[in-house]
Amino acid sequence: MTQALNHSGLTPAPGLEGLVVAETMLSEVDGQKGDLILRGERIEDLAGKTPFEDAVAHLWADLVPRSQGDLRASFAKARELAVAAIPAMANAPRELDIFERLRLGICALPLDLELTSGERICGAMPVILAAAARLENGDQPIAPDPTLSSAEDLLHMLTGNEPERSAVEALDRYLVTILDHGLNASTFTARVIASTGADMKDAVAGAMGALKGPLHGGAPGPVLDMIDAIGEPGNAASWIEQELSAGRRLMGFGHRVYRTRDPRADVLKEGLALLPQDNPKLQLAEAIEQAALAALAKAKPDRKLETNVEFYTAVLLDAIGIDRALFTPLFAVGRTPGWCAHMVEQQRTGKLIRPASRYAGPMPG
Ligand code: ACO
Repeated sequence: MTQALNHSGLTPAPGLEGLVVAETMLSEVDGQKGDLILRGERIEDLAGKTPFEDAVAHLWADLVPRSQGDLRASFAKARELAVAAIPAMANAPRELDIFERLRLGICALPLDLELTSGERICGAMPVILAAAARLENGDQPIAPDPTLSSAEDLLHMLTGNEPERSAVEALDRYLVTILDHGLNASTFTARVIASTGADMKDAVAGAMGALKGPLHGGAPGPVLDMIDAIGEPGNAASWIEQELSAGRRLMGFGHRVYRTRDPRADVLKEGLALLPQDNPKLQLAEAIEQAALAALAKAKPDRKLETNVEFYTAVLLDAIGIDRALFTPLFAVGRTPGWCAHMVEQQRTGKLIRPASRYAGPMPG
C-alpha cells in the first residue's frame, strides 16, 4: 500500500495517475486485461446472474455491518423508512436539480435502531431517487412496495405502473454492473470524507458531488444527446470527425485505467438482448460505437481509447424507458453500496487521508 505516502518527489502526478493510495479487498480493475473483479468474482459472472441485493451482500461480506436477516428485507424496510425524508425534498427551493434534491433526501433520512447505516442509506436510494424525479416534474411521490426488489420498486415508484419483467432484469443487471470500481473519483472522495471520522451520510453526499461531473458519472446523458444528434448510422463518421476536429471529447469513450475495452460495456450491451429489439437506437448505437472507435484510433494513435461503461449505460437505460436526466442519479443508486463498503474499509485503517502539496507561490521578501 501507500506508494503515495512514500512519494516524496517534488513533482506531483497530475490527477494522481498511477499512484496507489489505498489497499482494498473490494474490487480490482485490471486496465491491461480489461478485467473487473468484485471480491473474487468477475463482473460478467455477477451481473445478470446475481440479484442486486445478493451482489451487495457479496461485496459487503464480513466488512459492512448488517442487521439480522437477508438484505432484500432490510432494503425493503429502509425504503419504507425513507418516506419520512420526502417532505424535506418537497419543501426545498424549486430550482434545485435532481442531484441536489437527492442529497437533501439522504441528509433527511431518519435514524433507525434496527437497520445499520449502510442498509438505511443504500436501501433508501430508490425512494429518494424516484421522489426527486417526480417532484421535479410536479408529480406526487409514490409509496414504496416492500414486497418488491430494489430494482422493481424503483421502476414502480418512478411511474406508478407495474414494470415489465425485462426492464426489471435489465435495471438489476445495471445496478450490479456499477456496484464498485476501484479508486474512481467518487469512491476516493468517499474515502477521504470517511477518513475524517464523518458519518456515512456525509460521505455519500460528498461522493455524489464527485460523481456528477461529466468526466465521471455525468457522461451518459451527453452520450444520449450525441446519439440523438447523429440521428442515423450514415451520419456517424462525419459528426464524430467534426467533434474531434473541434477538440471536443466523445462521451462514453476513454478511461483512466482501461487501455482495452471496459468489461462493463459488454455486460450492459448483453443486457440489451433482454429488451425489445425493435428499438432503432440499438443499431444506431452500434454504428456510432464502431465509427467512434475508428476515429479515435486515427485521431489519438498513442492513446488507446475504447468504449467505457457510460456508452452502453445510456443505451440500456434509455431502452428501459428512463429519462436521461436520471442517468447520473441512478448511477449513485448502484454505486452507494460500493462507497459505503470503501468508507468502512477506510475507517478500519484508523488513518486520516491527508496528502501533501508542493508550494509554487511567492515567498515573503
Ligand atoms: N474523446 C476524445 N479524446 C479523448 C477522450 C475522448 N473520450 N478521452 C481522452 N481523450 C484524449 C485527450 O484529449 C488526451 O489527448 P492529448 O494527449 O492529445 O491531449 C488523451 O486522450 C488523454 O486524455 P486524458 O484526459 O489525459 O486522460 P484521462 O485518463 O485523464 O481521462 C477520461 C479519462 C476523463 C474518462 C477521458 O477519457 C474522457 O474525458 N472521456 C470522456 C468522458 C467519459 O466518457 N467519462 C466517463 C468515464 S467512466 C466513469 O467515470 C464511470
